[in-house]
Amino acid sequence: MNILRGKRLRNVKEDVARYTTSLSFDKEIFEADILCDIAHTIMLYKQEIIKKEEAKKIIEGLKEIYNKGLGNLNLDPTLDDIHMVIESELHKLIGDVAGKMHTGRSRNDEVATDLRIALREKILKILKLLIDMVDNLTDMAIEYKDVITVGYTHLQHAQPITYGHLILSYVSMLLRDIERFLDSYKRVNLSPLGSGALATTGFNIDRELTKELLGFDDLIKNSIDAVSTRDFILETLSNISILGTNLSKICEELILFSTYEFNTVEIADEYCSTSSIMPQKKNPDVAEIARAKLSSLNGNLVSALTILKALPNAYNRDLQEVTPILWDSTYKIIDTIKMVDGMLKTLKINKDRMEFLAKANYSTATELADTLVRYLDIPFRKAHNIVGEIVRKSIEERREMLEVAKEVLKEKNLEVPEDLLIKALDVHENVKLRKVIGGPAPEEVERRAKEFKERIKEYKKIVEEKEEKIREVKNKLLNYSIN
Ligand code: ARG
Repeated sequence: MNILRGKRLRNVKEDVARYTTSLSFDKEIFEADILCDIAHTIMLYKQEIIKKEEAKKIIEGLKEIYNKGLGNLNLDPTLDDIHMVIESELHKLIGDVAGKMHTGRSRNDEVATDLRIALREKILKILKLLIDMVDNLTDMAIEYKDVITVGYTHLQHAQPITYGHLILSYVSMLLRDIERFLDSYKRVNLSPLGSGALATTGFNIDRELTKELLGFDDLIKNSIDAVSTRDFILETLSNISILGTNLSKICEELILFSTYEFNTVEIADEYCSTSSIMPQKKNPDVAEIARAKLSSLNGNLVSALTILKALPNAYNRDLQEVTPILWDSTYKIIDTIKMVDGMLKTLKINKDRMEFLAKANYSTATELADTLVRYLDIPFRKAHNIVGEIVRKSIEERREMLEVAKEVLKEKNLEVPEDLLIKALDVHENVKLRKVIGGPAPEEVERRAKEFKERIKEYKKIVEEKEEKIREVKNKLLNYSIN
């Protein structure tokens, strides 16, 4: 007899079972489910809901199943899911007493608990990779703090910056991603266990105890909300999508800046491909694949939102379909962080080309206008007009900006010493001047980078503490013995 269908339902069609089972993606929660089973069993025993001998048999059986590993279990789709597979394995090992494990519990609170246990580890993994990447990037920013390049707005030459400053912009945005994951972690690491199907149980269970045993920070108290909400998944998917968007921007810049036309960076060979016909080609395939994979994260977020938006309380089987989406996004983002980190770590930069571009195309025009404001005490708008005229004339007459500037100023009876004009047009001077908070000046880049380093250290510590707590919880539960 199928232990799930019992005597209520008779036949089960194989193709129906295959259609509805979650077993193909339940591998992600196998370990979490065993932990959840052990914690629940310990609680049942401590609350004198089941006997010591019974608890002992159940826990020993669960440990055996865990050690056997998922690969050696009978993943029969007619059992629906991993919860029932484990219970049926347990039944094979210890007989009817296995049926006591599910006292005061439902698969609804069980799966919600398992998902949170499995997800928190994935979040920590993402955080760790991200923190390492940001750490590397911060070192890179310090290394390139003096390298002059041009910054773009509308993808047109804008103003000179330092390459270190651009790299720090990546750090700055990715630190917010780190904060978002850390913040959501608080809402992921909550225990729904003890909520039963939706209405808790009449048994005198101890929700606080299972919460502690499983390393959760708090309970979700309302039992209806606890079993039905998947907003912790939406939040995570959304964090992943935002991070993906940020990584995609980096990929896009790597692709663009490594073109012959820009030629400011070179992606290492191991992250590139060539062409089967054009022997000269070096294509940025990894960055392109990343850019595309990251798009599918947004699709995943929308799918999950759409599945959830019209569901009534409490558990609905639709919820199951959100789960594979979640794992897909976590794996994609984990792999992509590794790729982007790898590309950045091995990136070669072309300093000469960067400086050449910074000097070209009137990128210092703003500073020339600022100089007129400072020296002549004229309104900025007026200075803007004068410099606009200088630039237009330089382009039309194909002449050096300095010469044209002197000429235009003279025509207008405005006198500015030549050395000030030269200084205004110099890219190094431009960058050196911009030393206000968050500016591209080398000293400011270094100051910011050092500040970021401190924050990175803090985040590392927070993540390590969380990991340690989880390790302890697992160790304790998977080695638990009742004597
Ligand atoms: N496989 C299910 C899921 O992932 C577990 C809960 C099933 N509960 C139920 N009442 N059918 O959501």
